[in-house]
Amino acid sequence: MTRSQSMQPQSAVGAPVARVDGRLKVTGSARYAADHGPADGIEGVVHAVLVEATIGRARITGVDTRAAEELPGVLAVFHHGNAPRLPYRDNPFPDSINPPGERLRAFQDDRVRFFGQPVAVVVATTPETARHGARLVEVRYAAERVGTDLAAGTPGGEPETYGRGDVEAGLRSAEVRLEMTYRTGRNHHNAMEPHAIIARWEGDRLTVWEKTQWVADPRNELAAAFGIPQESVRCLSTVVGGAFGNGGRTWVHSVIAALAAREVRRPVKLVMTRKQLYSGVGYRPAYEYAVRLGSDRSGRVTAMAHDVRGETSRYESHADDMALGRMLYTTPHVAQTVSLVPLDVNTPTWMRGPGWSTAAYALECSMDELAHELGIDPIELRLRNEPESDPATGSPFSTRRLRDCYAIGAREFGWDRRNPTPGATRDGDRLIGTGFAAGAYATERMNAQAYARLDADGRVVVQSATSDIGPGTATSMSQVAADASACRWTPCASTWATRCCRPPRSRRWPGRWRASARPCRTRATCCAPGRRPRGHRPGLTASRRRPGRVVVRDGWLSVGTDPGRGETYPQLMGRNNRSHLEVIGSYEPPEESGFSMYSYSAIFAEVAVDARLGLVRVRRMLGVFDAGRIINPTLADSQAHGGMIGGIGQALLEHTITDHRDGRIVNADFAGYLLPVSADVPDVRAIYVDGEDREADPIGVKGLGEIVIVGVAPAIANAVFHATGRRVRELPITPESLLG
Ligand code: MOS
Repeated sequence: MTRSQSMQPQSAVGAPVARVDGRLKVTGSARYAADHGPADGIEGVVHAVLVEATIGRARITGVDTRAAEELPGVLAVFHHGNAPRLPYRDNPFPDSINPPGERLRAFQDDRVRFFGQPVAVVVATTPETARHGARLVEVRYAAERVGTDLAAGTPGGEPETYGRGDVEAGLRSAEVRLEMTYRTGRNHHNAMEPHAIIARWEGDRLTVWEKTQWVADPRNELAAAFGIPQESVRCLSTVVGGAFGNGGRTWVHSVIAALAAREVRRPVKLVMTRKQLYSGVGYRPAYEYAVRLGSDRSGRVTAMAHDVRGETSRYESHADDMALGRMLYTTPHVAQTVSLVPLDVNTPTWMRGPGWSTAAYALECSMDELAHELGIDPIELRLRNEPESDPATGSPFSTRRLRDCYAIGAREFGWDRRNPTPGATRDGDRLIGTGFAAGAYATERMNAQAYARLDADGRVVVQSATSDIGPGTATSMSQVAADASACRWTPCASTWATRCCRPPRSRRWPGRWRASARPCRTRATCCAPGRRPRGHRPGLTASRRRPGRVVVRDGWLSVGTDPGRGETYPQLMGRNNRSHLEVIGSYEPPEESGFSMYSYSAIFAEVAVDARLGLVRVRRMLGVFDAGRIINPTLADSQAHGGMIGGIGQALLEHTITDHRDGRIVNADFAGYLLPVSADVPDVRAIYVDGEDREADPIGVKGLGEIVIVGVAPAIANAVFHATGRRVRELPITPESLLG
């Protein structure tokens, strides 16, 4: 049979297919972590509710549990005074997600390290009883002086530094110099699904149904905490109601739930309240970001100094990656210092576009300030500083289509209709402004493993140890698998089992961008040249004598020397009377690619500012993204729109407010912590520049989920400046900051 005669499926990759789990989700039948129960074989579950510290820094001098324990239905109350000592080995995958330091342990000492820290847990037969019991626990403290203010804090340890050229000499000799400090508020992930876990022990084996964006970490962390082999822990994560980076590490409440389950010998369910999510899990830390810029009159930026201070806890050093300023522009003299200020707070963590979105705010506002100072169009200024190769490493970029992003964005947004003078455009009472910013986000590659089963009827099932935090991982894996196996697109594949394949061994962390890139690795399974599926007799291969030379491409098996002759998997199985084939395949990225790999963004925003109220409305927004190949434009839009809306929150609404007298977060709910709602969200449009990146990934993906927020806040801030002529150097840009 020749190739043209075979049934060629339409390409599933690139098609706007609906989510495979869409129906489950919109009908409410998808089971999130806390929804699991008897249908999953979990019988006799009991409920745990945390008791949090009501003081920011203290020693616990006593815990009175009598009233709680007398409550009918309360099974146990655990705290540092009665909890078993846990071995707490090191988590084998430290990274900035499990940062350097001593992690917070479950009731292992009498220290209160931050306001809201879990200090006890009440286990009861119903959630109501457990909640009631938690209110009855009385904790006494010996208070200590609390420090939670970044501005007043002192950096601990040595700053992380970067330098090239001679930045001080560069600044001295520059024709134009600018100096300014930007500040960003602390942001919280606020996913719809709260952190939740069900923990069940069977002997020494622990199973958890956990909200996580990386099933390997609950396994690693729980195994480490309890001193048991990793193989003894199984983590199940079917669907995740958003995570945005906060499901990356395993927080102390998960260990507490497992501890309680082991002690009461029942499965324990623990669901955090919305309020607890502001103190009990991570957040995007607040930053101060000082910039000094030197440029010649033509807009060639010659020197850039960035001095950054960020908040962290006193027990761990979480550092975001501030590398954007090193690689976005060709600047010969660059110096960066990033200092961490230890405070009496919970450890921060990665939040969408971690580091890069913060750095983009400072860098891209400073570029806008320079453009204004020089009277050069902001896009033209970027073009004059666009590097040909990575200025930080000298390596070529795998792909960098920022110029295309600028050109397409400017055309589609109507940038040339802009009056460059700030404060000059009005619409009735409103001042109108447009702003622009660029962004980048590192593409990283990691190993992965996937199981694939091909049935003779053309069905394919693909499984990998990952979770889907929203990008549609199951759907895009299905699309890649459908193409690779030449099976007709059907929403049949599944990513949701964690038992059959090893999670990645990488020390790096599979966050959003990797989850969206990860599906592609399954292609290593479905189309690995010459790979022999398990149970695959040599006689079944298209080239009987030299199976290594069989090439599988788009589901077409052929001999390398004659790509025109071959057959499809269903034909192969039919001819050999087989019901199915199965295989486990792995992908290992090359150690060194020799390329610098990034996704890119160009964000355009238009705002209307009510001059009397100081109220900013985003009127329209366009994002143009160079993210490599797009597996599914519908899923891509959902990522892009969500990320850009998150950027509206970062720019105009979101920040926690801490009472520095006691370390309490005063707006720890949806009434006090403002998030963009439909009324805040204008027409948002995303465009993806064509092209796949074969250096970044075997099928050309660079990653989209993080880059979609990078550049949004500065584009909006620059638009506010253009509208009003006022430069607010602090996020969020609140009405008070514009009126003050
Ligand atoms: Mo992303 S902050 O790695 O979920």
